[in-house]
Amino acid sequence: MPDKDEKEFQPEVNPNEIESKSDARDAAEKLRDAIRYHNYRYYVEDDPVISDAEYDDLFDNLKKLEEEYPDIVTEDSPTQKVGGEPKDELGLVDHPTPMLSLKSVREDDEVANFVDNCKEEVSGDITFVCEPKYDGLAVELIYEEGTFVQGMTRGDGRTGENITSNLKTLGEVPLKLVSSDSTDIPERLVVRGEVFMLKEEFEELNNRREKEGEKTFANPRNAAAGSLRQLDPNITAERPLHIFFYQIAEADGLEFDTHLEALKMLPKLGLRANLDYEFECSTAEEILDRFEEFEEQREEMPYEFDGMVVKVNRIDQQDDLGTRTRNPRWAIACKFPPRRSTTEIKEITVQVGRTGKLTPIAILEPVHIGGVEIRRASLHNQSEIEQKDIRSGDTVLVERAGDVIPYVVKPITDKRDGSEKKHHMPEQCPVCGADVVLSEDKKQAHCPNPQCEAQAKERLQYFVGTDAMDVEGLGERRIEQLYNKGLIEKLSDIFNLTEEDLRQLDDVAEKAAQNILSEIDESKKADLHQFLYALGIPHIGQHMARVLAKKFKSVDDLREISAEDLREIEEIGPEVAQAVESFFSNEDAFKDIDLMFDAGLTLDNPLFQQKEQPLDGLTFVFTGNLDSWPRDEVKELVERYGARAASSVSGNTDYVVAGPGAGSKLDDARDEGVDILDEEEFKELLEEKVGSLK
Ligand code: IVH
Repeated sequence: MPDKDEKEFQPEVNPNEIESKSDARDAAEKLRDAIRYHNYRYYVEDDPVISDAEYDDLFDNLKKLEEEYPDIVTEDSPTQKVGGEPKDELGLVDHPTPMLSLKSVREDDEVANFVDNCKEEVSGDITFVCEPKYDGLAVELIYEEGTFVQGMTRGDGRTGENITSNLKTLGEVPLKLVSSDSTDIPERLVVRGEVFMLKEEFEELNNRREKEGEKTFANPRNAAAGSLRQLDPNITAERPLHIFFYQIAEADGLEFDTHLEALKMLPKLGLRANLDYEFECSTAEEILDRFEEFEEQREEMPYEFDGMVVKVNRIDQQDDLGTRTRNPRWAIACKFPPRRSTTEIKEITVQVGRTGKLTPIAILEPVHIGGVEIRRASLHNQSEIEQKDIRSGDTVLVERAGDVIPYVVKPITDKRDGSEKKHHMPEQCPVCGADVVLSEDKKQAHCPNPQCEAQAKERLQYFVGTDAMDVEGLGERRIEQLYNKGLIEKLSDIFNLTEEDLRQLDDVAEKAAQNILSEIDESKKADLHQFLYALGIPHIGQHMARVLAKKFKSVDDLREISAEDLREIEEIGPEVAQAVESFFSNEDAFKDIDLMFDAGLTLDNPLFQQKEQPLDGLTFVFTGNLDSWPRDEVKELVERYGARAASSVSGNTDYVVAGPGAGSKLDDARDEGVDILDEEEFKELLEEKVGSLK
């Protein structure tokens, strides 16, 4: 994705000033474009250029416009997605009812509007419950007959990752509900809550990881999410994870009239709720006072929370208020303002990344923001430095919003004394001395030398990282040492490390060396998409690696691929196509890959989709039970032949396949005029389109 200048990536749109539908349409398109760009920077490049708060502003403005002018909503608008994409390695499961997100508010009058609106729309007395907005990972747990049967992440709100085994390792998740005199065990219970790590335990975990040469986590939220989304539950079991339940989504056989009553029932069933921090309020003033108190308590609390959730207390009133597409109308999240502070830039250095990209880094006079010491901030590129006129020696405003990647908002120009120095990108790579190459628009600087030490180290570190080949035990420090001792240089060298090599590291004795070797061995069995990601090809993040794996069965099939052929694939643009072509046409890269195969690498490709796709373009929704296949299998079956298996009925659905026990989806199908098939009719359709079933 090309870089954008500031006007494009932060379009100034004030929804209140827009008066016509056509202006709204244009402004919305600009906002969507910018949001997609920032999603890409955040999720693919891991390199956001605006703060979370600024991102939220863009998103809120787009939402406001779309609410005002519903005709301008497009299907691909970022507002139509509820959350991040779930990873399918863990297995995907549908939520019984969508897990919505909360509308965020930052201004006092937005809270007042929420209160007024609720009061106007419901009858009877109304109160609100204020509770912390926990900064962890949202999960849903299902208990049947009192037994924990399934747990999942929120995922995109409709479908989440199956993390049942991982959740079972948490001491605070009972495998069986407790029965007590006052509360009968419900036949089926669906509860939601947040998994988190205590600040102190997070620090200890990071200290330990640092000592062991492993990558540290950016913050407690990432640590909790990373720990829970492991393929191996033994790893989850070793991590200090906690849970607070905050919502009963379904309860057959439990009676409660209010949110507070529901929460009080949870501990009686053995489920942990944070009852000491639930406050009932009647007015906007009370809610705002509570918000201030929460903000004052924020630092001293043992866990992180990034705001306050306000919920209508009575369940019947919640039901009357109902939901919008993404958010309930009976609850909001009041977010704390971003945490900012000022400090001085001691110097601006230049870091060389994995792909040779040169990134200017501000080395800061250490400053504490929200309990975390900030020493460095990325300045992204020279044009950003120039646009913001940031100079070495400047006092700057630094922000840490949610994630720990801090961000320099602006220089405080009043504080200048004339000694500040403008920054210029070096003409030679600061590590290997090669002549720096500038991109066409002159914004990005690159070191063109793939042998550059900095690039080689970064590539090796990336290759063994958790999302890549995932070799536990080989962290940044150890890779650095192995490289400096000349034991590794190219990626395949990792696969050929010996016990003797590893014993040369400062703190690695026999047992540790053997553990690392067995980790390396294990990493040799990988999936193609994981391997493609691990190779560190420019522009190939996790998502693009999957797109490629769906189309190419093996690495060999990529050997002679041209950028032109790659462009045929949906989602692949010119830059990605060019990057893939250049990477695979480089003989050295292939020699290295061959050496990895010689060292025992085997690649599986579960994502590969057969070329023949007789159900291409069709969307199915399944409801009720089918005799011939469990639900997951039938979905996989149609997907294998190119169809989409959706979890809810919409105008795009072609067929609803209904078995006994079909639910409301059948009514939705009738409402939408979608064809309904029973199991026999579905089999006939398959045989007609696919031929005999395998
Ligand atoms: S209630 C429809 N309560 O906030 C009601 N959510 O934007 C939705 N969250 O990812 C959930 N603390 O994990 C609720 N006390 C709390 C919460 C909370 C944090 C998270 C939740 C979700 C997001 C919703």
